Amino acid sequence: MKKKFIVAITGASGSIYGFHLVSALMKYPVEVFVLMSESGRAVAAHETDYLSGPIDSYFRKNNEIFHSQATLTEVDSSDFFAPVASGSFQHNGMVIAPCSMNTLAAISNGITDNLIHRAADVCLKEKRPLILLPRETPLSLVHLKNMTRAAKAGATIMPPSPGFYTRPETINDLVNSIVARVLDHLDIDHALSPRWPQA
Ligand SMILES: Cc1cc2nc3c(=O)[nH]c(=O)nc-3n(C[C@H](O)[C@H](O)[C@H](O)COP(=O)(O)O)c2cc1C
Repeated sequence: MKKKFIVAITGASGSIYGFHLVSALMKYPVEVFVLMSESGRAVAAHETDYLSGPIDSYFRKNNEIFHSQATLTEVDSSDFFAPVASGSFQHNGMVIAPCSMNTLAAISNGITDNLIHRAADVCLKEKRPLILLPRETPLSLVHLKNMTRAAKAGATIMPPSPGFYTRPETINDLVNSIVARVLDHLDIDHALSPRWPQA
């Protein structure tokens, strides 16, 4: 059975984290289900090469080469009939990268008015891995409390704040250092970013 992962890209700054994560996962024989919120599409179009429309056009434009057995399925974030909406859909983890404060608030309060919120809610109730990359600065007490609630309910809170001890030289180095931590948490063996201590 191929491993299945859900990646959601919401309207916080840092869509590049979601895109790099999808492309890192697609180097393995896995099934990846991608959801973008409406704001996620707008922000991604503003800060990356993504042009609104199907996400695979972004990867084609960047000449990404994927594993021959990997599959990428884009799911409409308003389609509650999609498999990821159901607890009976078995998968190996969901990552929201980046995770807006709006989406964080919905998840930490059990509000499921789009499929991203619903799929995350299902992860919590089914005890499946849910990794959130929340992005905002500074953080208000509301944001901090929502992170605490989500963490208490079982989510992993992984702010995309890269370390500099590996001496990153490019934006890709910085982004990959975070994507590497996500892959670690999804139990995927990789050599995406140097580990500490360095050889
Ligand atoms: C250019 C731009 C950058 C944004 N950056 C952030 C951000 O870093 N964090 C955040 O929580 N919201 C940010 N927002 C606001 C969210 O897009 C907005 O709250 C939206 O309702 C989130 O919806 P979603 O959770 O469905 O994606 C940004 C909006 C724009 C237009």
